[in-house]
Amino acid sequence: MWLLLAALAALAASGVQSSTAADDHYIAAVVDFCPPPWTPHLTPEQIINSNIELAEGFVADAKKQGADIIVFPEEGMRGLRNMQYAMLMPGPGDEATPCAAPSGTVAEPLRKLSCLAANHSIYLVVNLVETVPCESSATNQCPGNGHYSYNTDLVFDRNGKIVAKYHKYHLFGEYLHQPPPSPEYSVFETDFGVRFGVFICFDILFDKPAAELALRLNVTDMVFTAAWFSEVPFLTAVQAHSGWAHALDVTVLAAGYNLPERGSTGSGVYLGRHGILNATMNWRNESTLILQRVPKHGAKWADAGADVHPDLDRFDPLKNYGAGKDPFDDVEKLYMIQDNMTMYTTWPVKRPEQGEDVLLDKTLCTDDRLLCCQFHVQALGVSLFQPSSAAASLHGYSYFRRREEPPFNKTEAEEEFDGFHYRLVAFSGVRDHSRVATTGVQVCGLISCLNEELASCGWNAPNLGSPSIKWTEFVNVTITAEYVADGTLQFPSVLAGPRYEPLPASHYNFQSELGAGSNRTVSLTTTKQAILDLRTFAIYGRHFAWDGETATGY
Ligand SMILES: *[C@@H]1O[C@H](CO)[C@@H](O)[C@H](O)[C@H]1NC(C)=O
Ligand SMILES: *[C@@H]1O[C@H](CO)[C@@H](O)[C@H](O)[C@H]1NC(C)=O
Ligand SMILES: *[C@@H]1O[C@H](CO)[C@@H](O)[C@H](O)[C@H]1NC(C)=O
Ligand SMILES: *[C@@H]1O[C@H](CO)[C@@H](O)[C@H](O)[C@H]1NC(C)=O
Ligand SMILES: *[C@@H]1O[C@H](CO)[C@@H](O)[C@H](O)[C@H]1NC(C)=O
Ligand SMILES: *[C@@H]1O[C@H](CO)[C@@H](O)[C@H](O)[C@H]1NC(C)=O
Ligand SMILES: *[C@@H]1O[C@H](CO)[C@@H](O)[C@H](O)[C@H]1NC(C)=O
Ligand SMILES: *[C@@H]1O[C@H](CO)[C@@H](O)[C@H](O)[C@H]1NC(C)=O
Repeated sequence: MWLLLAALAALAASGVQSSTAADDHYIAAVVDFCPPPWTPHLTPEQIINSNIELAEGFVADAKKQGADIIVFPEEGMRGLRNMQYAMLMPGPGDEATPCAAPSGTVAEPLRKLSCLAANHSIYLVVNLVETVPCESSATNQCPGNGHYSYNTDLVFDRNGKIVAKYHKYHLFGEYLHQPPPSPEYSVFETDFGVRFGVFICFDILFDKPAAELALRLNVTDMVFTAAWFSEVPFLTAVQAHSGWAHALDVTVLAAGYNLPERGSTGSGVYLGRHGILNATMNWRNESTLILQRVPKHGAKWADAGADVHPDLDRFDPLKNYGAGKDPFDDVEKLYMIQDNMTMYTTWPVKRPEQGEDVLLDKTLCTDDRLLCCQFHVQALGVSLFQPSSAAASLHGYSYFRRREEPPFNKTEAEEEFDGFHYRLVAFSGVRDHSRVATTGVQVCGLISCLNEELASCGWNAPNLGSPSIKWTEFVNVTITAEYVADGTLQFPSVLAGPRYEPLPASHYNFQSELGAGSNRTVSLTTTKQAILDLRTFAIYGRHFAWDGETATGY
């Protein structure tokens, strides 16, 4: 009886029903979180407290709309550049509820966050820094200051109890942090019948623990916190994270730190092969709450299938372009880094004139660590409008002017831009990530470029509103390659339109099939819809055994 009363009381307190194990869905919230810019005159403690206060508004709002779980990004509570705030933390084994602990016995931010979860009766996922005292010995690598410092995700349940703690394994040049001695497989259960795995940012590109949570531990739903640096043409945030979810066919609740001037944003709810339920790449300095009803996996997933395929409102070039306006010219405020494609094997796709068809069958093989990518491309040249003389004179005919030499001058390429050029690319080897890590990569792709130079590939285009733009409409693109099955992972990396949005899952088909022997055939193909504003259409492959080797060509 009192259980019922307690339940009623909780319900009255929050005014909202929670999902249960019997439901075929749950309600998830992720926050593309934009804490105020770092202000040196505030103490680290004041900064974290004000970020928690800011978070509370989103928690309350999400709960009002029925959210069962809410995820904030990597560094979201502490704030980027607030290097000093680390704390001692209980773990899930300690049955600790900091909200109920006597004050002074637990770090104040932990107590606040625990109360936040309890007050709103919601699962709360946050990222903080844990400090763990250590004594140096011959066998450990205890830092000179006598404590380890871990980039840590912490999960509170609806009562404010700590139910999961995860330490980031693949640090991204975070010289003040240490990785845990071995990858941690952090999983927590919820009262709505879903088991979640936890990992952080750069971890998503590695097998241990991220991919293995799905492949080996059968975890179907992930909470993922990030402060991602988006990179064209293959690894912008939503593109890479939703591609990973697609390849492993798992649900990912992804929360990204919003700092556009540094290239950080990108949050969403990704439903495996069913595609993106909702996502944001927000180039304005602002937070976004994404709230989503998420169908559960397994049989229930299929039952809920009817409303699984949302097909996000895709940007429609026909409606938005051709009349001289470009509604997204401020997307440029979102800083991007570019993959270094110097060592790629590439092949230009001839840009068709208006009304002209292009048909290209091509196999590109890499010189090194052999990978052969087979491409079939069918495209049509399109003008959205007849160029008016005004538009023509506005943009001149400068694109007839040949520029002889790289290095690539982006300003100039933008000025002269008259429609994308496309290029087939293949790579198999080791790449560098901002000089902080190297990874084994095997890529087959079709990418967009501002002009005929490889260095111009991947970048966002200016002036797409101009009527004189020469569009290439892709009718059928098929990419196939054979990969060694063991120790590799391939995912689709697709992008279209001006806002760094992946193509909806209904626009492509990604298949990965084990053949005889130890190889896997992977293919990526467009489905019926012709695509006018393609940016990237690629199989992005990881080859884990090459990680840490010297980058190819260096
Ligand atoms: C939790 O709720 C109590 C009572 O309403 C309130 O006093 C407290 O400030 C709240 N704490 C948080 C962290 O929201
Ligand atoms: C994962 O699922 C496979 C296939 O159903 C099963 O053989 C395996 O034991 C499961 N592993 C775990 C850790 O549950
Ligand atoms: C975001 O803030 C930064 C620095 O505070 C500023 O340079 C930039 O222009 C802002 N971006 C937008 C879209 O307002
Ligand atoms: C996605 O989330 C944004 C931000 O909350 C919201 O405005 C939009 O309506 C959502 N879109 C869909 C399709 O749910
Ligand atoms: C790039 O091109 C622009 C416009 O043509 C020119 O003003 C600028 O000097 C060039 N920059 C470099 C580094 O060549
Ligand atoms: C696209 O091309 C592939 C490879 O040639 C072919 O198998 C497929 O049937 C084509 N699809 C369409 C819709 O034309
Ligand atoms: C397996 O794929 C690799 C490329 O990843 C290739 O070098 C090798 O020849 C393939 N093996 C077979 C048996 O086809
Ligand atoms: C790109 O890679 C090549 C070799 O792979 C290297 O020589 C060059 O320095 C790199 N460029 C940049 C800007 O890192």
